[in-house]
Amino acid sequence: MEWVAAGGIALAGVHAIAVPFVLPAFRKHCLPYVAATAEQISLVRRACEARGVRHLVDLGSGDGVVCIEMARLGIRTHGVELNPILVWQSRLAARRANVGRLATFERGDLFRADISSADAVALFVVPAMMPDLEKKLAAELRPDALVLAGRFPLETWTPVDHLVHPRASSGYNVNQLWVYEPGLSISRM
Ligand SMILES: C[S@@+](CC[C@H](N)C(=O)[O-])C[C@H]1O[C@@H](n2cnc3c(N)ncnc32)[C@H](O)[C@@H]1O
Repeated sequence: MEWVAAGGIALAGVHAIAVPFVLPAFRKHCLPYVAATAEQISLVRRACEARGVRHLVDLGSGDGVVCIEMARLGIRTHGVELNPILVWQSRLAARRANVGRLATFERGDLFRADISSADAVALFVVPAMMPDLEKKLAAELRPDALVLAGRFPLETWTPVDHLVHPRASSGYNVNQLWVYEPGLSISRM
């Protein structure tokens, strides 16, 4: 009898942890959790340093690594993430890295995130999300804010910069970052 109860508790635990990771697959846009590589983070760092970024929002912040690494540079960062387990993991990691005040995280849908005060937005998303994201970014970002799109470019915007890490990944090189500025990147045709 105890074995049955223990099995039930273990199963419930596995279920509670697995469900937040599986649920994004049932949304309009399926964006799984894949942490940014060290090479991708170094590209974000380069872009932030070059442009003097002071407030960065990471849309779909995963385990918080992008926010935490940029907060180490003194940048105020905020991550928006659907998965509550990853949000708590991010908060814990930020505290451990002594950037708990500079790197904050919320559980939420990136399409509803407030990005109006950000001077940069980081995106490590899938190409299918780009059309909807372009609409949100165009409507809500300041014209001189930056969009830092890692792995894949936006669909119709023209980049103001394109950074490629010398250590390419095999196959499609995911170690790329496209930099956009709404005031310059959006075609007015
Ligand atoms: C590719 S990971 C990127 C993680 C992080 N930005 C990085 O580069 O390390 C995408 C993250 O977005 C989250 N996600 C998926 N759909 C989302 C949504 N609609 N709103 C917020 N987060 C979402 C996933 O749970 C996943 O953790």
